[in-house]
Amino acid sequence: MNFLLDEVARATLRLAEAGVPSPRTDAEELAAFVHGVRRGELHEVADSDFDALYWECVARRAAREPLQHITGRAYFRYLELQVGPGVFVPRPETEIMVGWAIDTLRAMDVADPLVADLGTGSGAIAISIAQEVPRSRVHAVELDAEALNWAKRNIDASGHADRITAHQADMRSALAEFDGRLDLVICNPPYVPTAEAGQIPPEVVQHDPAPALWAGADGLDAIRDLEAVGRRLLRPGGAMAIEHGDGQGIDIPRLFPEERGWRDVRNRKDLAHRDRFVVMRRAED
Ligand SMILES: C[S@@+](CC[C@H](N)C(=O)[O-])C[C@H]1O[C@@H](n2cnc3c(N)ncnc32)[C@H](O)[C@@H]1O
Repeated sequence: MNFLLDEVARATLRLAEAGVPSPRTDAEELAAFVHGVRRGELHEVADSDFDALYWECVARRAAREPLQHITGRAYFRYLELQVGPGVFVPRPETEIMVGWAIDTLRAMDVADPLVADLGTGSGAIAISIAQEVPRSRVHAVELDAEALNWAKRNIDASGHADRITAHQADMRSALAEFDGRLDLVICNPPYVPTAEAGQIPPEVVQHDPAPALWAGADGLDAIRDLEAVGRRLLRPGGAMAIEHGDGQGIDIPRLFPEERGWRDVRNRKDLAHRDRFVVMRRAED
């Protein structure tokens, strides 16, 4: 067997023993990172000169540090983003919600759509929309200064900085200058119930920033706030998408009632067929 693949097999066992949920994938990703190749190119790597560095990375992962903090990179749709301590690692579940937003913007009869990404974290959502909807103008809002620094770094590296504006602000009062004018608001808010703290994996609870996670006893505090925020920011006919946690899909649609001008409130599923985000529109005048 190729020496490197042998190392990867041993690392897989070590990560599995440490309770890492996807040990093979992570052992391969770390090997690819150490060798500066993509995971699919690992078989082309000859014998390793990088053992010490590889096993240092494996030890960090076995201690349940997130893979993306070790490699410093996260993949999201067509993007490779810089991530690390102080910013939420973007998740694949969110990619589907962003796909919905991009389809919705393309279907709107608006030349230069105005978009807000509330709680932008690494900038994953804002940059994807700017990249995939070429004339969009995106406002990326983030309260946490450390997270916003990661977003700015990713925005600057994206090639779309001319159409993305980063704002350090609380989403509840942000972007007042755009009240009633936005075509689309999108948000992956904090939605973990404080009561669930004991059930959250160490990668998340010890490494994702607290403001990215917790949202009151039922996990719906930020989503309740978003009802008023969307109502304030969206133009008539504008659209909103909000991600949420497992099991919250039943409770959320009633927070966006018709008498407050919400229409077409629908739950949408992720690839595992779980309710994952809710979408809606403002009534037309
Ligand atoms: C779950 S993370 C999502 C990050 C990113 N949008 C993504 O999908 O990867 C939620 C983000 O919202 C930010 N946040 C929490 N409360 C906020 C508020 N009131 N105003 C603005 N940002 C807030 C957090 O700091 C965090 O970066």
